[in-house]
Amino acid sequence: MHFNKHVFTISAAALLLANLLLPDAAFAQKIPSLKDAFRKDFGIGTCLNNAQIEERDPATTAFIASQFNMATPENIMKSALIHPKWDTYDFTMGDKLIEFGKKHKIKINGHTLIWHSQLPSFIRGIKSADSIRTFFTDHIKTVAGHYNGKVYSWDVVNEALNEDGTMRKSVFLQHLGDDFVTEAFRLAQQAAPKTELYYNDYNNEQPKKRAGCIELIKKIKAAGVRIDGVGIQGHWHVGKVPFQDIEESILQYAALGVKVMFTELDIEVLPRNFQGADVGARMTANEQSNPYTAGLPDSVQQQLAADYEALFKLFLKHKDKVTRVTFWGVNDGDSWLNGWPIRGRTNYPLLFDRNNQPKPAFEKVIALKK
Ligand code: G3I
Repeated sequence: MHFNKHVFTISAAALLLANLLLPDAAFAQKIPSLKDAFRKDFGIGTCLNNAQIEERDPATTAFIASQFNMATPENIMKSALIHPKWDTYDFTMGDKLIEFGKKHKIKINGHTLIWHSQLPSFIRGIKSADSIRTFFTDHIKTVAGHYNGKVYSWDVVNEALNEDGTMRKSVFLQHLGDDFVTEAFRLAQQAAPKTELYYNDYNNEQPKKRAGCIELIKKIKAAGVRIDGVGIQGHWHVGKVPFQDIEESILQYAALGVKVMFTELDIEVLPRNFQGADVGARMTANEQSNPYTAGLPDSVQQQLAADYEALFKLFLKHKDKVTRVTFWGVNDGDSWLNGWPIRGRTNYPLLFDRNNQPKPAFEKVIALKK
């Protein structure tokens, strides 16, 4: 007893000393690695913001490189940023991301060529279908062409569907008609023959939206155009993860001959009156809307861990169909869910806390591989 206590005291002291003496980067290596644990099953990704791409904090860079082998730019490849003016493209940050990927052996998923949101402001001034078509064609050719052979894959079209499976009334649908999705893939295939091409959406595990998504994929294929995979974003809510719909979707999408990916995974723990990720949606703050500023209660922490454990069990069960699982953020502090649908909340949707320390959800996920 006395001996055990002694050993414990020595090892605790050693740990403390290591914590103090080792640079964060070295200490980060002591946390088991997600990408290594799941290496034989599927890729493990994160989204990256400007500070991370620019490697402003070496400890963060080392942590990212130790945990992830795939990455998606959170914002910098969206059209508003990469194509700010009619005849001006800005590849500065995108090119830095490519370098980041090369240096740290991280495959990059380009995000995203055609999306109704975060469009350049000049689009608002365009009234003719011809000009929209010119923008659409030039944008895909130029951006996909620039990164051909540099990015591993593209989210060619993002969020083209409504919840009922019909097509969203975007500027592209209005001016170019139903075929714009197929056309986007055709142009991307020509400009980026060496790149995998995906359709990406949220709630497309839900039966009606899934049916619309299946129709889209069939239509692209029927036109003789290549589509390699479908992304289910995976913005879910704690205690309400739709496991059955997710499994059904993996099976139905895979039956079409496309890869299935979970592309923006996070699990919301704060009060919300709707599911999904419509960036236009907002909620009004009240006294109940930001309840966990002092920390996450244990009951919620355990539910979050159980949800992540069940999700990864499902992903492993279908590892022959699921090729990548990407988290939408490295740690809780990075998450867009701190600012949406209400600004300034304290959210806890990921596997690592604000200091990149593993949460109980991480322990449950990594334990599946022990
Ligand atoms: O960069 C400007 C900054 O200059 C300005 O001062 C500040 C003021 O609000 O805004 C900054 O831009 C913000 C940008 O993120 C970069 O931080 C935008 O307001 C904000 O709207 C934008 O949010 C992004 C959102 O997409 C926009 O649609 C989130 O970071 C990003 O996580 C989120 O990602 C989307 C996926 O692309 C598609 N699926 C849904 C997912 C979550 O919404």
